[in-house]
Amino acid sequence: LRDELEAKYPQLSTLDVKPFITSLRMVKSPYEIEQIRDAIAATNLGINKLILSLRPGIMEYELADIFEFFGRSQNRSKLSFPTIVGSGKNATCLHYPTQNCAVRSGELILFDLGYKSNGYCADISRTFPVDGVFTGNMKKVYEAVLNCNKAVIEYAHAGLTIADLQEYAKTFLKNECVRLELLDEEDDIRKVYFHNVSHHLGLDTHDASNREKPLEEGNVITVEPGLYFADLGIGVRIEDDILIHESSCEVLSAGIPKEIEDIEKLFRTKGN
Ligand code: GLY
Ligand code: MN
Ligand code: MN
Repeated sequence: LRDELEAKYPQLSTLDVKPFITSLRMVKSPYEIEQIRDAIAATNLGINKLILSLRPGIMEYELADIFEFFGRSQNRSKLSFPTIVGSGKNATCLHYPTQNCAVRSGELILFDLGYKSNGYCADISRTFPVDGVFTGNMKKVYEAVLNCNKAVIEYAHAGLTIADLQEYAKTFLKNECVRLELLDEEDDIRKVYFHNVSHHLGLDTHDASNREKPLEEGNVITVEPGLYFADLGIGVRIEDDILIHESSCEVLSAGIPKEIEDIEKLFRTKGN
């Protein structure tokens, strides 16, 4: 296009603005951060609604509808992306599209969802036990992913690249899986962890970014490790949204429960 324009208007020179716009979009202003915080707070309320509604027998699509209807009832009709609800083995499919299974006792359920606020996205994943208690392999896998989520958050700061975070997460998950005897071969981590741990977040869920550029103060990214064991019917992803600072980060989604005790307590007190 630039060649065409310069041929047609030889007196003008052109500049590709995309890299400039991308750089601007990667560093969020205080206003933008406020919008993302607001989107996350609303998403937290939607997740609470899901916890109240979750019971064996409910359909995955009903849960997606409950999240979306609740959003509309709060004047939040814009979603960051189509709501993902996957129970049991379905959670091992990355962007599970069908959502037409009944939720079953004895399984985990994975939600990946978010409302927008003035165009800015929340992108949150949480995984809950349908029965409200983590047991057996479900607990082991959940703990491995949770430990990784927290370790990446502890590690994240300005100067690292998203590739650095990915390498860190992959090594961490590999070690956790071997320690917990979930994998025999270290190389098999590729089979149970097959996506990135982070992306920039903003006006788009996968926001405009130069992934090679080291992180800077004011970047907002996700931290979303996961493990997916199709043969066990267990898929876990725990996704938070964080704000990068010089030597640390702030978890913007810290208010959304992810600790085992906190989740089990919420289920115990929900009264159904
Ligand atoms: N929900 C899409 C993603 O987490 O990247
Ligand atoms: Mn994400
Ligand atoms: Mn997500």
